[in-house]
Amino acid sequence: MRKDFGVKTWIYPQPVLIIGTYDENGKANAMNAAWGAIYDDDQVVLCLSKDHKTTRNIRLNKAFTVSFATESTVVPCDYVGIVSGNKTEDKVEKAGFTVTRSTRVNAPIINELPLAMECELIRIDGDEHIIGRIVNVSADESVLGDDGKPDYNLIHPITYDPIHFDYVALGKKVGSAFSDGKKLK
Ligand SMILES: Cc1cc2nc3c(=O)[nH]c(=O)nc-3n(C[C@H](O)[C@H](O)[C@H](O)COP(=O)(O)O)c2cc1C
Repeated sequence: MRKDFGVKTWIYPQPVLIIGTYDENGKANAMNAAWGAIYDDDQVVLCLSKDHKTTRNIRLNKAFTVSFATESTVVPCDYVGIVSGNKTEDKVEKAGFTVTRSTRVNAPIINELPLAMECELIRIDGDEHIIGRIVNVSADESVLGDDGKPDYNLIHPITYDPIHFDYVALGKKVGSAFSDGKKLK
């Protein structure tokens, strides 16, 4: 037997993306977004309500960063998802985040989040579907593994459970992609 739940946006796992932008005064803002994904080889898509300060900032500067929330930054990452820069100007400072201006796009990189994509706006579909081009990915050296690449075990990224509104730590490696399925070929 299965139980029906109707129309739900329940996808596992949902990311916890932190979107960094600047406003017209060069003030950094950050917001939490679960509705985001890879859209093409070099593109991301975000679904952001048009009234968010972040959405207005992206329209203005045609740029944003996408960082990934981590186990040690749950509290500030949730904070930037429940408070708007429209009302709280010093939201980034109150979160305890510091920023460094990206050298590639007009958007802030959040220093406390070790992995970030720097993106330029390609277009906004409708009012709220942001399509961006990834122009760079940067990682803090502290999260690089022995192969010189970002190591998931050092980043400790979290995921969002949209059914219970929980943040969940990602678990252990359970397989190898493009490989394990060969056993059934
Ligand atoms: C877990 C979580 C996920 C969220 N995902 C989204 C999302 O995908 N799209 C969106 O528009 N808002 C989302 N929000 C709400 C915004 O982060 C929130 O409204 C924020 O205050 C907007 O900030 P801003 O006005 O400073 O840009 C989410 C909030 C939380 C806590």
